[in-house]
Amino acid sequence: MTKPADKIIVALDVPSKDDALRLVEQLQPNVSFFKIGLELYTAEGPDIVRAVLGNGANVFLDLKLHDIPNTVARAVESASKLGLQMLTIHLSGGTEMIRAAVAAKKAKMSILGVTVLTSATQQTLDELGVGEQLDRHVSRLANLGHSAGVDGLVASPFEVKFLRAEFGDKIKLVSPGVRPRWSEQGDQKRTMTPREAIEAGADYLVIGRPITAHKNPREALEKILDELK
Ligand code: C5P
Repeated sequence: MTKPADKIIVALDVPSKDDALRLVEQLQPNVSFFKIGLELYTAEGPDIVRAVLGNGANVFLDLKLHDIPNTVARAVESASKLGLQMLTIHLSGGTEMIRAAVAAKKAKMSILGVTVLTSATQQTLDELGVGEQLDRHVSRLANLGHSAGVDGLVASPFEVKFLRAEFGDKIKLVSPGVRPRWSEQGDQKRTMTPREAIEAGADYLVIGRPITAHKNPREALEKILDELK
């Protein structure tokens, strides 16, 4: 059985390489998967990916790619050459874009599809003229992703429940929007505790601020790992 520590991906949502590597150093004894997102990648570029990989950790590059198929494919190709483990694309880019992304990998790397961001609500979808219930829309995008060949999906813990029922073990499910009871919600609207999210069927939990914004990140991570035992 997978250890709780192997299910946690810490989101390095910090502005600089120094901040990021300090967190990796503090947390790596307990976890080995780190997510690099837009803030850090825009500031530091592929060097930060190489530095985290160089520490022996795994990298989830969360660029949420969404562009014309050729541009996304070329970006996927470049990312896969860095030797990282997971990369995200937006499934709302459509089948042609997703297929181009999946076909462009040059090395073993999971392509994860983002359905609906966990900060979004029904109101957000209505505002965009989506004209569908949030759950229905998540399921539509998930099916699009699955048939076009993605390895996994990023989804809130609430969606993980029905996605696990719908796809069984055919797909990896990665959940952000996780909050221990003792931490702030922030802008996340649909959250569950780490334990609830695992019980709902998540393979991996992406946790950022509850750990990284805590006055003692290592202590926060250890508390979460304890709660998962
Ligand atoms: O700090 P927090 O725990 O909310 O961080 C969650 C991380 O997961 C952020 O880096 C955010 O960009 C990412 N994420 C998300 N919802 C998605 C996909 C990614 O919150 N659907």
